[in-house]
Amino acid sequence: MCRSCASGQNEKQVKARLRVFCCLSLALLWVAMSNSSVNVVHAVEQDGETTYIAPFVPTPQEVVDRMLEVAQVSKGDILYDLGSGDGRIVITAARRYGVKAVGFEIDAALVKHSQRAITEAGLEHLAEIREQDIRNVDLSPATVVTMYLYPGANLRLRGEILRQMRAGSRVVSHDFSMGSWAPDRVERIRDSTGLLRTIYL
Ligand SMILES: C[S@@+](CC[C@H](N)C(=O)[O-])C[C@H]1O[C@@H](n2cnc3c(N)ncnc32)[C@H](O)[C@@H]1O
Repeated sequence: MCRSCASGQNEKQVKARLRVFCCLSLALLWVAMSNSSVNVVHAVEQDGETTYIAPFVPTPQEVVDRMLEVAQVSKGDILYDLGSGDGRIVITAARRYGVKAVGFEIDAALVKHSQRAITEAGLEHLAEIREQDIRNVDLSPATVVTMYLYPGANLRLRGEILRQMRAGSRVVSHDFSMGSWAPDRVERIRDSTGLLRTIYL
């Protein structure tokens, strides 16, 4: 092998290792934070319980697009995004698929921000954001649920999802599984920064 090829190979290996290291660090950080009794980013205590069960970390748009494809969103669906952040999943579902989409978000500033974005997009007839704790949401109207939370938060919601949602409904989670509830499909995609993302259906 020529020297320049070898140095190119080395560079590729270093980059690949760096990517793996970044992914592992992120995953460890999420797991550590999910097991912590204090949410590092937003800690709000109510009745001795942390109200925020995940911090605001937006799903990259290309991953949002794929999550909705994996969920096979189609006319007639009602999508709920649990912890809707800046509203990107709700807005994308309404704009691209013309479905009713509702986001539930506890952070008042994010609620206002996403409501403004919905108005600016002219999607008020389809998209809605409710300022509500996702632990108290009636999930029975939803046919698709999306989430990007913590492993612990997913487990917490799993029982309600199974109890309340109808057969044939789809649940899509970004990066975290539903524990022992085996996914029908797992997809790994690279986002535009090169980070590997996992989508669980
Ligand atoms: C990782 S972000 C995901 C945002 C968006 N779903 C996305 O994928 O881009 C999680 C969101 O859940 C919200 N959240 C955390 N705990 C919540 C709770 N108990 N009720 C409602 N929203 C909550 C956070 O404020 C944050 O915006």
